[in-house]
Amino acid sequence: MKRIAVLVSGGGTNLQALIDAQNRGEIVGGEIAAVISSTSDAYALERAAKAGIPGCVIARKEFASNQAMTLALVDKLKALNIDLVVLAGFMVILTEEMVNTYPNAIINVHPALIPSFAGPGCYGLHVHEKALEYGVKLSGATVHFVSAECDGGPIISQKAVEVLPDDTPEVLQRRIMEQAEWKLLPQAVSLFCQDKLKVEGRTVRILA
Ligand code: GAR
Repeated sequence: MKRIAVLVSGGGTNLQALIDAQNRGEIVGGEIAAVISSTSDAYALERAAKAGIPGCVIARKEFASNQAMTLALVDKLKALNIDLVVLAGFMVILTEEMVNTYPNAIINVHPALIPSFAGPGCYGLHVHEKALEYGVKLSGATVHFVSAECDGGPIISQKAVEVLPDDTPEVLQRRIMEQAEWKLLPQAVSLFCQDKLKVEGRTVRILA
């Protein structure tokens, strides 16, 4: 069984989707071994506790830099013997020590169709604000491996979701979560745990 750590910062609905998928037996070959939060008041920690999954806090505000926090996280993940790191609404940009320790073994979910509305400053509701400002008719979600470039790693899966005329950022966020994120992320995690994701340069091949 691959040991999965889920990194969170907020509400944790993507964590919940992973927990629900695990409970349905849909995370084949892996188990969520730990939930690590960058904030002490993340509701995601309560979701972990309710599911009986060990949770801990590595608070961003206790470190002078993203670099110092990343080093602490890497130590913790190594101590927990983690095989796969999942960023599920994790709002800290990790430095290259993390990527070097877990090459093609960190999966992120982003609430837009990368390369649109991605990169530094594009996170959470801001992504949907930018999509609405631009006037796109389709947005969606992307699940990808994390590389040293913010939102720039090899794409595992994407799903388009319609933008409707009266959408607010909150309404669009919810539709993208329901129709795309909560499905794509558990599927990608399960494929990883079965060794079915093969990275070839920028491309991820899904093995049968
Ligand atoms: C999700 O929409 C996720 O895609 C996004 O934050 C939200 C977290 O919600 N992540 C990013 O923007 C990362 N760049 P959640 O805590 O309910 O899963």
